[in-house]
Amino acid sequence: MKSIPSNSFISPTTTLCSAAATETQRNNALQSVKNLFKRASLVRKDRKTNLKLCAKTIVQERIIKYTQESQASRSRCMLELQPPGYVSQAFGPPVKLLGSGTDGYVNLHVDPAGVKFAIKSFFCPKKRFTSLNECYEALDSEIRMSVMFNHPNIVRVYRMIYEANGYIYIVMEYCDQDLFSLISNLDSSPAERIELANYMFYQLVQAVSYLHNNAFVVHRDIKLDNICVTKDHTLKLVDFGCSVSYDPLRPFGRYGLTGSDPYIAPEIFLLANSIYDPRCTDVWAIGIVYLAMLSSRFPWEIAKVSDKNFNLFLSQKHKLLQYWVQHDPVARSLISDILSVDPSKRPNISAIKSHPFFINLHSRYSNTNDP
Ligand SMILES: Nc1ncnc2c1ncn2[C@@H]1O[C@H](COP(=O)(O)OP(=O)(O)OP(=O)(O)O)[C@@H](O)[C@H]1O
Ligand SMILES: [Mg+2]
Repeated sequence: MKSIPSNSFISPTTTLCSAAATETQRNNALQSVKNLFKRASLVRKDRKTNLKLCAKTIVQERIIKYTQESQASRSRCMLELQPPGYVSQAFGPPVKLLGSGTDGYVNLHVDPAGVKFAIKSFFCPKKRFTSLNECYEALDSEIRMSVMFNHPNIVRVYRMIYEANGYIYIVMEYCDQDLFSLISNLDSSPAERIELANYMFYQLVQAVSYLHNNAFVVHRDIKLDNICVTKDHTLKLVDFGCSVSYDPLRPFGRYGLTGSDPYIAPEIFLLANSIYDPRCTDVWAIGIVYLAMLSSRFPWEIAKVSDKNFNLFLSQKHKLLQYWVQHDPVARSLISDILSVDPSKRPNISAIKSHPFFINLHSRYSNTNDP
């Protein structure tokens, strides 16, 4: 995809509904914690300590609950040892290559009953491990994390299989395509495109809200290629290869440089060796995904001052956003907030869910896809 030229045109639309939102603060414990801390700063020190402890307890309880749930799901979905050739026998041979990456491949398999699966495979030499458990523990975040999630907008992992010849297979629900191909091949009216972008945005925010606020995980590689879409346009976030857990009580840390150029938030380049809140970088990427969906182009190649389009954005943000998101001033105001160069000014995922644009989307789409 190319960068969005400043004069790109998108027809206006007025399709938003105005029904009142029913879910504005759900799964919003971290925001409540923040408020507790804010209020705590106004009261006496001993009271402040109590409130801090209370806030800490809320988060800790949620961590414990999530850990218990994820351990339960882990025990349901441990790495199974199977003889070589098992996957092809159980799920059929690979029929089509869906994607390939640094370490392996994702293939479509159709089992004897005709059910489709997407199976990601990569090589993990047996000689490095003395036991299956050791191999499981050594697997990177992707495998250990993806089995823990339970959300309609996060791809479901059914089984993880280690074939005795050294191949690991992640058996996932199959999605028809990723958002990159969907958007690249889109041949629809501007109004339909906006409708699709809004629906995808709504579901992506739900998925990221679950990750940040329930699973305490940051994705760190949110992009069109890592968003799959089913036939009925249900969004499924995939590829947890860059994901990490974060400490909700101390979210700032040294997270380094990760992600794909057009989606990387500017602070990552400035603070690559320094400390930042990785949740803010996921939020930035959501904004880029929205813009890319509207026009099939990226606003810039990389968010560095050396990039002329990003430079233009720094000096003419307001004007550019008026071109890019001209269909709806409410959407524009949220995207403008999301694309705050200063991460401390960017809304967190809970604040996005409280924005009038998201509330309107929620009133339209919550029946179609509500976690
Ligand atoms: N469940 C799925 N259903 C359909 N297609 C999928 C599914 N999972 C992944 N794909 C396709 O395969 C591509 C590659 O998958 P994925 O993003 O998980 O791996 P990767 O980017 O190659 O891996 P890595 O980033 O770890 O090198 C995706 O961009 C998508 O097009
Ligand atoms: Mg990927």
